Amino acid sequence: MKRRTFLLNVAALLAIPVHSRAQMKMDAMPGMGGMHAGHGATTMPGTTPELAEGAPLQDLPRLANKAGRAGLFETSLTAEPGTARFAGDLGTPVLTYNGEGPGLLIEATEGDRVSINFRNRIPGEDSTIHWHGLPVPADQDGSPIDPVAAGADRTYSFDLPAGSAGTYWYHPHPHGLTAEQVYRGLAGAFIVRPKVDPIPAAYGDTVLFLTDLRLAVDGTMPPSTMADMMNGRIGDHVLVNGQKNPLLEVPVGTRRRFRLINATNARFLRLSFGDAPMTLIGTDGGLLEAPVTAVNEILLAPAERAELVVDFARPGSFALRTLAYDHGWMGPGKPQEAGLTLMTVKASTPALPSKPPPLPATLRAIADLGTPVATRRFVFSEAMSHDGGTMKISFLINGTSFDMTRIDVQSKVGQTELWEIANPTDMDHPFHIHGTQFLIVGRERDGQVTAPPYKAWKDTVNVARGETVRIVVRQDQPGLRMYHCHILEHEQLGMMGILDVQV
Ligand code: C2O
Ligand code: CU
Ligand code: CU
Repeated sequence: MKRRTFLLNVAALLAIPVHSRAQMKMDAMPGMGGMHAGHGATTMPGTTPELAEGAPLQDLPRLANKAGRAGLFETSLTAEPGTARFAGDLGTPVLTYNGEGPGLLIEATEGDRVSINFRNRIPGEDSTIHWHGLPVPADQDGSPIDPVAAGADRTYSFDLPAGSAGTYWYHPHPHGLTAEQVYRGLAGAFIVRPKVDPIPAAYGDTVLFLTDLRLAVDGTMPPSTMADMMNGRIGDHVLVNGQKNPLLEVPVGTRRRFRLINATNARFLRLSFGDAPMTLIGTDGGLLEAPVTAVNEILLAPAERAELVVDFARPGSFALRTLAYDHGWMGPGKPQEAGLTLMTVKASTPALPSKPPPLPATLRAIADLGTPVATRRFVFSEAMSHDGGTMKISFLINGTSFDMTRIDVQSKVGQTELWEIANPTDMDHPFHIHGTQFLIVGRERDGQVTAPPYKAWKDTVNVARGETVRIVVRQDQPGLRMYHCHILEHEQLGMMGILDVQV
């Protein structure tokens, strides 16, 4: 039987929850009795509650710095259960940091020392905080090898070095629980500011933290199905700073700086801003060398970030919308991904009294990493097997599934390497490396190699189906680092390896 057919059958037969542990736990929580678990199958149209749209865009809640002296960002973050109200009065059991909605913003400056006391108050579950994209020491990285048990505390401490200014995020990374803790609400934004910012302050700075949400009729989040585990969980609603299609009103003539963070488990966001001209100024690891003007659209795979400057030069409504993007899909139940309005900007008169200043022609220099002295190849694959009557799907790198006790690759501090990531599977897989930022040097498809149009620091790169992506990477700190697909369900099902960086 051809594999494609086989997968279709499996998906049809097994449209059942992979595990309903989370739901059962919530039912047992004080004050949350009587909640019903969702039915598990992907929510059908008409069975998900409507969410109100068009409310003014809210800034992300900000995590207060309690340090009381310059150069230190010190506070605590508590992961705990809570109840959110997404749809009218319907209560949705969620996980929160400090009781806040998705996106709780940490804002610090290059050169700062960060010290965050993490308190895991998720009943019965390990957790961690992983500082996605930041160059933190391996033992502060919050990776699956360093779990924080339920009820336990730990402090994460690290420095934000010069040159690290950029748009990052943080999320849990406990073995086997990352996907679920993230879709239940645990993820926040982490902005590192430079001492002197080349982007004019007149543009403002708006963080758009993108998450998605699936709600059952009773307001609960249904557990993931087999289809979710295979394709990655895609919700029914895309939220911007926790809101559905919020409205941003600006005077005509506004140029706005936006930082977009794809904090969804698995949603590919190919975005346009209608006919409002976009300029790309930054990626995962901060600013580009020079602005890239006349950008009509951007693709943000799960975990990727982009910094944009958008011109609202004429009166009217500008929708941040999703365009069609085929990232591959296994089985039935492909969700609607194109044509969603994530946010609306309304530009009206009176216009700004004066024209905002132009972008500088040069934003910063991006150094080369030097000539690679080692080449490594990583090949994605997918496998299905029967294990005593239960179906087991695995997502593999170089034929192996993640093993916490196995070192997959050994490297050296400061050694420049060429990594080649090949994706002969039927689905796109966004590849992420912990601990550093890398440079993309080329993409190959059907023997055609394309060089990237500009230099950019990245920590996550989409490797489209049928594509091979080459990157140059260097780790400057010793220790164990994860690399994995950032479709969190794939990471959970084995598509992750461990890099040992030695002194
Ligand atoms: Cu954002 Cu290993 O993860
Ligand atoms: Cu990471
Ligand atoms: Cu994947």
